[in-house]
Amino acid sequence: MIRIAIDGPGGAGKSSLAKAVAKRLGIIYVDTGALYRTIGVYMLGKGINPSDEEKVSANLPDLKLELKFIDGNQVILLNGKAVGDEIRTPEASMAASAVSALGSVREFLLMTQRNIAENNSVIMDGRDIGTVILPYAEVKIFLTASPEARAKRRFAELTAKGIETTYEKVYTEMVERDKNDSTRALAPCVPADDAVLLDNSELTAEGTTDAVLKIVNKEIKQRKKKFNPFYRVCRILITVFMRLTMIIKVTGKENIPAEGGVVLCSNHIGIRDVFLIGITYPRQLFFLSKKEWFKIPVMSSVMRAWGAIPLDRGGKDVGALKNAVVVAKKGKTLALFPQGTRKPGINPKDTQVKSGAGMIAYHSHADMLPVCIKTDGVKYRFMRKIEVIYGKPIKYSELGFERGSVGEFKDATSKVFDEICELGGYSSLPSDEGEQS
Ligand code: DC
Repeated sequence: MIRIAIDGPGGAGKSSLAKAVAKRLGIIYVDTGALYRTIGVYMLGKGINPSDEEKVSANLPDLKLELKFIDGNQVILLNGKAVGDEIRTPEASMAASAVSALGSVREFLLMTQRNIAENNSVIMDGRDIGTVILPYAEVKIFLTASPEARAKRRFAELTAKGIETTYEKVYTEMVERDKNDSTRALAPCVPADDAVLLDNSELTAEGTTDAVLKIVNKEIKQRKKKFNPFYRVCRILITVFMRLTMIIKVTGKENIPAEGGVVLCSNHIGIRDVFLIGITYPRQLFFLSKKEWFKIPVMSSVMRAWGAIPLDRGGKDVGALKNAVVVAKKGKTLALFPQGTRKPGINPKDTQVKSGAGMIAYHSHADMLPVCIKTDGVKYRFMRKIEVIYGKPIKYSELGFERGSVGEFKDATSKVFDEICELGGYSSLPSDEGEQS
C-alpha cells in the first residue's frame, strides 16, 4: 500500500498531477478540495454566509457526503445526488476557502478523507494532507508555482470551461485565497516537515508528473529492499554462530507481514534477544540503542549499518523517537522492547510496560507485531533451548487510537504485551521458574 500526499496552493496543478500519477500507478485519486467546494456551494445555496461558523455548523448535520469511485473517477454524492461542475466556479472557490477555515467543517471531513486511505493506495491532494489528514503518508509533495504562473493556468482552465472572467480577477482572487489558506489558524496550507518541495513554474504538466513519479518509484524501490548488504552478511555470520550454540525453535513465521511498516514488540530477557529476532525475521530490523555505543568511532558506523538508532536513555529523546517513527513510516520494521530494559526474569508478566511502542505505532500508522522469546533459563548455556514465537500482527485500526493520548499509547502497548504473554503461555502472575542472572 502506498499513500501519496500532494499539498500546495490553488492553481499549482495538483489535480492534473495527481490524476496522471494515479493513472500510471493504478491507484485512487482523491480530490479533497472538491469536498470543501461542495460544502461551500451547499451553504451558498441555502443563503448562508460561508464564513458564518455558527450557521454553517448548525447546517452540517443536514449534509450527507459520500465519496464514490467510478472507473477510477471520484464522484461526490451530496445527500444522495452527484455533484457536478457547479463546484468549479470562482464563487465556489471563494466559498470553499471560507468554509475550509472553520474547525467544524474540517472536523466533519476528517474521517471521510482518512477512511479512504485506510484500505486503499491513494494519491490525495489538498492543503493539509501531509500535515493533518495523512501525516504518515509514505510520499509527501508540496507543489507550488509563482502566483502569476498559477493565475495564468487557472484563467485558461476557466475560459476553456466557458466561465467568463479576466486574468486580473483570477490573479487577485488567487492571491486572496492563498493568504486565507496559508494564514488561517487551522490546518494552514504549509509544507509538512518531511515533504519534498517542488516548484513547477517552469515545468510542463508532463515534466511535473515525471518528477513526482521518480520520487514515488524511488520510495517503492526502497521499501522493497529487504536488507542492506552489511546487515545481510552480519546476519549470516550470527545465524551460523547462534545455530551452532543454541537450540532455536521458531514458530508463527507465517504471521510476519511481507511488507509495510511494523512496530515489532518483544519481551526482553537477555542481549541475545535482538540477535534471535534479527536472524529469524525475514526483513531488516531497526532498533533503538543507547547512544554511548555511537561514541566509539568504528562501532558507530557498524551500529548504523546494522540498523541501530542512537537513543539518549537519560531523558526524553525526542529526536530518537522521531527517527524511529520515520523508520516505521517508511515501511520498515522497528524492533522494540516495551519493558524498557532487559528483565532477567523469564516471565514477562512480572513487569510493567512503557508507552513508547504505542506512540511510535500511532505516529507511523504501523501495525504492531508481538513476539515472545521463551526459554527455560536466562544465563548463557551451551545448547540452551530457546523458542521465538511470532504472533499475529495487530492492525493499526485495532489498536484503539482516537486522539493520540498517552493513555491510548499505553493501552496499545499493553495490548501487544498481553499478546506476547499469551504466546508464551504466561497467563499467571508472577512466576519464579528458571534461574535469575
Ligand atoms: O484545491 P481546491 O482549489 O479545489 O480547494 C478549494 C478550497 O478548499 C481551497 O481554498 C482550500 C480548501 N482546502 C483545504 O482547506 N484543505 C484541503 N485539504 C483541500 C482544500
